[in-house]
Amino acid sequence: MARPDKEYKRNMSSIEIPVIAGDGIGPEITSAVLKIVDAAVRSTSLQLEWIPVVAGLSALEQGSELIPQRTMDEIARCGVALKGPCTTPVGEGFTSINVKLRKAFNLYAAVRPVRSMPGVETRYQNVDLIIIRENTEGLYSGVENEVTPGVVMSMKVASKAACQRIATWAFRFANRRGREKVTVLHKANIMKMTDGLFLKCASDVHANDYPNLAFESTIIDAGCMKLVQDPSQFDVLLLENLYGDVISDLCAGLVGGLGVVPGANIGEDLSIFEAVHGSAPDIAGRNIANPLALLMSSVMMLNFLAETRQLPELAESAELIRRSYDACMIHGEKTRDLGGELGTAEFADAVIARL
Ligand code: NAI
Repeated sequence: MARPDKEYKRNMSSIEIPVIAGDGIGPEITSAVLKIVDAAVRSTSLQLEWIPVVAGLSALEQGSELIPQRTMDEIARCGVALKGPCTTPVGEGFTSINVKLRKAFNLYAAVRPVRSMPGVETRYQNVDLIIIRENTEGLYSGVENEVTPGVVMSMKVASKAACQRIATWAFRFANRRGREKVTVLHKANIMKMTDGLFLKCASDVHANDYPNLAFESTIIDAGCMKLVQDPSQFDVLLLENLYGDVISDLCAGLVGGLGVVPGANIGEDLSIFEAVHGSAPDIAGRNIANPLALLMSSVMMLNFLAETRQLPELAESAELIRRSYDACMIHGEKTRDLGGELGTAEFADAVIARL
């Protein structure tokens, strides 16, 4: 895929952003988030042009494929997207939408900042972790087969190129952000080849290119115990695909739950921003879902656009949103999952009132 930076710069006053509202709670949290972001960006000379595209159950319901070609084309054309959570039907031969998007656009680095929030009481008040997950390989290779009736197999894939790429990305990120330590959580004692390769690549990148940063590796089961005992001992966590998925939710539990953990899926040519959580069908359509994780993802997106397209106004809008939701938390203007009483739409109004 060609790098389309020049095309983006042609029209810098209006920025096109495809939006997948998603399934379950997706439409309600996405609508809340777009309202807030529009209100924040309004004071700049820029305008965001949201392009609605579909994926997931909502696409199937419209008679399209799980990810219609138009959705892929618009994301490729714009180089960025904001994505609500999508439901992938279990079984029935459907590939996960997320896995497909990440593979199709080579979004190899998932970045998930996990931080204690002001005004959100949890067991710890000092959590400040960045999870970096390899997003394209491991057990998400999608290679599964039936070896013989009653015996099925799923293939865990690790390539040197992908392991080196994510390790390099993680150390460069840590270095640029002034972080001090990168920890690999792994199971190389059992999966000596796959996890062994992941660990070796991280260790080599550290030794060759970033000896200024601290580096450690911990077997993932012990790492889970250490995370829940004292998360402040970790800084940047580097994990292969499945471990990154699981540890993201574990870490969300340290800071108030899935409602407060954003994410970005980063590739060479484009990036897709989405919350860590799923479509939460158990609470869908009731105006009780927390839009904050998607809002935080949109803040990451604005900062990304500010940096990659030299649009500093968007970094100011991002900061405005961040200060406003922090103020909401401090003043108890929260959704139910965080102990508050506001609905999804009322929370959006509260953030807008504080912009
Ligand atoms: P989930 O993250 O949707 O829900 C887990 C629990 O957290 C539920 O009790 C839910 O109510 C709660 N929760 C999640 N987000 C919340 C929010 N914003 N506010 C308040 N509470 C929230 O995970 P689950 O139930 O395992 O998956 C449901 C569906 O989502 C599945 O079809 C799965 O494939 C899909 N999924 C999609 C993802 C994506 O599109 N990025 C990521 C993870 C799951």
